[in-house]
Amino acid sequence: MSAFSFFFTLLLLSLCSSPALSAPSLDKQSLLAFLSSVPHSSRLRWDPSFSPCSWVGVLCDPSNSSVLSLRLPGAGLLGPIPPATLGRLSSLRVLSLRSNRISSPLPPDLSNLTHLRSLYLQHNNLSGGFPDSLLSLSALSHLDLSSNRFSGPLPSGLANLTKLTRLYLQDNDFSGSLPSIDVTGSITSLNVSNNALNGSIPDTLSKFPSSAFAGNLALCGSPLPSCNPSPPPGTNSKKLSTAAIVGIIVGSVLAFLLLLVILLLCLGKWKRRPVQPPKAVAAGVRSNPSAEAGTSSSKDDITGGSVEAAERNKLVFLEGGVYSFDLEDLLRASAEVLGKGSIGTSYKAVLEEGTTVVVKRVKEVVVGRKEFESQMEVLGRIGNRHENVLGLRAYYYSKAEKLLVSDYLPAGSLSVLLHGSRGSGRTPLDWDSRLKIAICTGRGLVHLHTSGKIAHGNIKSSNILLRADHVACVSDYGLNPLLGTATSPNRVAGYRAPEVVETRKVTLQSDVYSFGVLLLELLTGKSPNQVSFGEEGINLPRWVQSVVREEWTAEVFDVELMRCQNIAEEMVQLLQIAMSCVAIAPDQRPAMVEVVRMIEEMNRGEKNEGLRQSSDDPSRESEGQTPPTRPVDRISP
Ligand SMILES: *[C@@H]1O[C@H](CO)[C@@H](O)[C@H](O)[C@H]1NC(C)=O
Ligand SMILES: *[C@@H]1O[C@H](CO)[C@@H](O)[C@H](O)[C@H]1NC(C)=O
Ligand SMILES: *[C@@H]1O[C@H](CO)[C@@H](O)[C@H](O)[C@H]1NC(C)=O
Ligand SMILES: *[C@@H]1O[C@H](CO)[C@@H](O)[C@H](O)[C@H]1NC(C)=O
Ligand SMILES: *[C@@H]1O[C@H](CO)[C@@H](O)[C@H](O)[C@H]1NC(C)=O
Ligand SMILES: *[C@@H]1O[C@H](CO)[C@@H](O)[C@H](O)[C@H]1NC(C)=O
Repeated sequence: MSAFSFFFTLLLLSLCSSPALSAPSLDKQSLLAFLSSVPHSSRLRWDPSFSPCSWVGVLCDPSNSSVLSLRLPGAGLLGPIPPATLGRLSSLRVLSLRSNRISSPLPPDLSNLTHLRSLYLQHNNLSGGFPDSLLSLSALSHLDLSSNRFSGPLPSGLANLTKLTRLYLQDNDFSGSLPSIDVTGSITSLNVSNNALNGSIPDTLSKFPSSAFAGNLALCGSPLPSCNPSPPPGTNSKKLSTAAIVGIIVGSVLAFLLLLVILLLCLGKWKRRPVQPPKAVAAGVRSNPSAEAGTSSSKDDITGGSVEAAERNKLVFLEGGVYSFDLEDLLRASAEVLGKGSIGTSYKAVLEEGTTVVVKRVKEVVVGRKEFESQMEVLGRIGNRHENVLGLRAYYYSKAEKLLVSDYLPAGSLSVLLHGSRGSGRTPLDWDSRLKIAICTGRGLVHLHTSGKIAHGNIKSSNILLRADHVACVSDYGLNPLLGTATSPNRVAGYRAPEVVETRKVTLQSDVYSFGVLLLELLTGKSPNQVSFGEEGINLPRWVQSVVREEWTAEVFDVELMRCQNIAEEMVQLLQIAMSCVAIAPDQRPAMVEVVRMIEEMNRGEKNEGLRQSSDDPSRESEGQTPPTRPVDRISP
């Protein structure tokens, strides 16, 4: 948290300090000239009676004699940068004007910024050819022109920028061939994806991953597929290379084998289907355990134990249940494994009448029938009453088998939505949806906490399920009292509050911690279970703290969010709330109801209509939603 107070102290200092004695007057004039001629958000005000070193977005050298950095991300800047303004900030090291609506041309006098090390112009409306003025910025180390409308060839003069370490040109319309940019090997990060480049990739650039080159017209050569010699005129240009043919043959054979295996498995399953019900157990719910050892090809089956005496063969429906089927129907249903958790496997079961439910087989239940039943009653009563809690509909208890039946939500889990098929043309989860999911989840937890003092005990993104329109609800709650202490509570380590490791008991406060981790997951796009965290004994909260402490950088936020404009303020607010939830001491964490109130208030205004404007909607700036606070940007070395 100290990182935050430091950050805000800085912010306050830069806002409230008195005029400096040695004002860099030339820089001041240039900055004022810039702001007076470029339309911008009304929140961005520079008071001419103060030193520019005290202005928002401006950073000076220690003696306040020159401006070193100017950062105005998402400040609603509109139109071209006029000459004789920013080009005169002769000591400038960092210029960040990303996420505005700056258009071409860039002024030629930018070439006079000979000390400039970092230039961030991504997410603007720049067009035309690669700006010549940038080619003489010999100190340039970071250049980001991504997500603009630049076109035309990339100049070979880029090779003259020998200090370049990061070059981002993706999501433009550059065409022609890729020059041999990195002659000195200084570039560590490159991205030219989603342009219209063609020809072969120079050897100097083949060390970068293929995603750095993807989405171009016709780039070829390592790391992309090799360049075929162009076909002689007249021949069929669709001719396949030998490699492709071999690939296709191998692929077909593999696919055929796979099909054969699936077919055999299905046949096996079909055979195992018992002829006469009562003891029928469909799709793996088999009638006797010995069959499991013999013919089972998969251990993912709903039940291995024998179903007990007839009168016990009863599915108990809980309050608010809407279903009318019995155990027989359930066992006859076709089942499909949804997921395997530490306390059991979940199946999607489609009943013959067409109803779909989720059946969870709970292993390791240590309590007796009575306690089990009374906990089910409680969960049924509390859980079936709130939109943001997944209803528990029925349960089944026998010595050998414990089943929980709940609604099936086809939209899947937050985990899949957030981490599924990253980097392969997925639709990014936008900021508004993430906020909505955070609020829904929070409300579901508040309901559990306040109306039943039920600790959820297993908050993680794969237990946050989605209804239509990103309405989220929590599932898999309140089961810890049924399990022995041998099963580690809050089963996924990345979400587990530190005290739970020792006490082995989940509490309302440990839920708050796990919810904080979930918020960090929404903000960073990183899964708390990532191997890279676990192996080094680092968890997501500690990783975020370390990044934030070192420097206030964009690195902490999900790259997918960098596309959204004007959300920096909200992201910082949510990050603060998340950090208060993951306080080490349980009594320092806010109560769940307080957490939700903070998130809702941060979001006030739009909430009442139930409709938030898109964060990309520029009109929000005029409502003063996004003061250009300290940038969420990389800081030059
Ligand atoms: C430089 O300016 C900042 C902001 O106005 C102020 O806090 C700081 O004391 C000044 N430093 C010097 C050496 O004047
Ligand atoms: C760069 O600065 C010099 C000296 O201030 C000036 O003469 C020159 O015109 C500037 N270059 C451009 C392209 O404006
Ligand atoms: C982008 O710039 C062009 C001129 O280059 C202008 O016509 C267009 O309106 C701008 N688009 C936006 C969204 O500002
Ligand atoms: C790049 O450097 C070469 C040789 O040093 C020079 O001839 C060329 O004009 C430079 N290109 C640009 C665009 O500055
Ligand atoms: C690349 O595209 C340009 C037009 O943008 C064309 O003139 C050139 O011949 C192409 N080069 C190759 C190698 O396909
Ligand atoms: C390059 O940018 C594209 C589009 O923004 C992204 O999908 C890809 O992961 C990036 N690749 C690298 C290596 O940065």
